[in-house]
Amino acid sequence: MSKDQPAPLPGQSDKIVQVENLSKKYGDNIAVNGISFTLNKGEVFAFLGPNGAGKTTTVEILECLRNPTGGQAKVLGYDVSKRSDQAEIRKRIGVLPQDFNAIDRLTVRENINYFGAMFKHQLDADKLIELVDLKDKRDEQFKKLSGGLKQRVGLAVSLVNDPDVVFLDEPTTGLDPRARRDVWGVVERLRSQGKTVFLTTHYMDEAEYLADIVSIIDHGQIIASGTPDQLIDTHGGKKTLIIRDAGQEGLKQLPQGLPKAELRNAGDIAISLNNGELTSILMSLGQTPLHDKEIEVRRPTLDDVFLNLTGRRVSEEGN
Ligand SMILES: Nc1ncnc2c1ncn2[C@@H]1O[C@H](COP(=O)(O)OP(=O)(O)OP(=O)(O)O)[C@@H](O)[C@H]1O
Ligand SMILES: [Mg+2]
Repeated sequence: MSKDQPAPLPGQSDKIVQVENLSKKYGDNIAVNGISFTLNKGEVFAFLGPNGAGKTTTVEILECLRNPTGGQAKVLGYDVSKRSDQAEIRKRIGVLPQDFNAIDRLTVRENINYFGAMFKHQLDADKLIELVDLKDKRDEQFKKLSGGLKQRVGLAVSLVNDPDVVFLDEPTTGLDPRARRDVWGVVERLRSQGKTVFLTTHYMDEAEYLADIVSIIDHGQIIASGTPDQLIDTHGGKKTLIIRDAGQEGLKQLPQGLPKAELRNAGDIAISLNNGELTSILMSLGQTPLHDKEIEVRRPTLDDVFLNLTGRRVSEEGN
């Protein structure tokens, strides 16, 4: 920023979250170790990492629930470490904690109004119920809802004060695939309304699908950041050409001079592609009996990014 331009006043910055060299120690355990990142207005940011990486610790510092032991963090331009700023932050953010629970005996609508009453301004409960697609369950007691529907109540509650940024800590963990998709739908709706979302997740597909920007955190440190495409291009490795159901026989039919091919799963042949090789390989396959097989090009995913950066897969760690 140039010297002539004054810094924006707290509450008016387009930098919704600014974190610099942030650390948190619990005794000797360094949970968050000198991380830096920025979240801009209107972005969906995914903080992606395995169990114990430091995601919740970071989010809870941003929510003013924990004090950092080093570095700086600002939310909406307000300093999380300043007591006088904390009240402003709490008023203006929305929170879905990792272990969200509402009040069992209250209905969906009653719960939203109950949590809304803690704020000076509250959005209309019925509008929120519509946003999270719970119209049919409006008068159902919270305790009778499935896990996925409970999470959607949590999303509605996190939005009740019309926050400038909403923090969702692992909003889909433990949900079945259908319920996860439904939660993704709500996040997409928030994005289309221009909301700023800070999401933590250990699901690679979730980050890839929902996020504009992803920061990968591992052992308290950010090991890579960027758009999903940037991360995949930089760290994902090569694309793979898959020839479906070709089996051992297919391996023998491959033309000479191809890059190394291997057999996978139920007899699929996988060939690692260098840039610019695809067309010539397809043309040479066309001359072989393999030309009538189903052929697909698989792009690396964030799973491959994590594997290449750490040597591990998240799924190996009990997530
Ligand atoms: N209150 C606490 N006291 C001591 N250690 C803690 C505390 N909370 C977290 N930790 C430790 O800090 C590290 C980071 O934990 P954190 O909960 O932030 O990770 P996470 O990425 O949210 O993990 P998960 O995916 O399991 O939710 C872990 O080693 C954890 O055991
Ligand atoms: Mg956590």
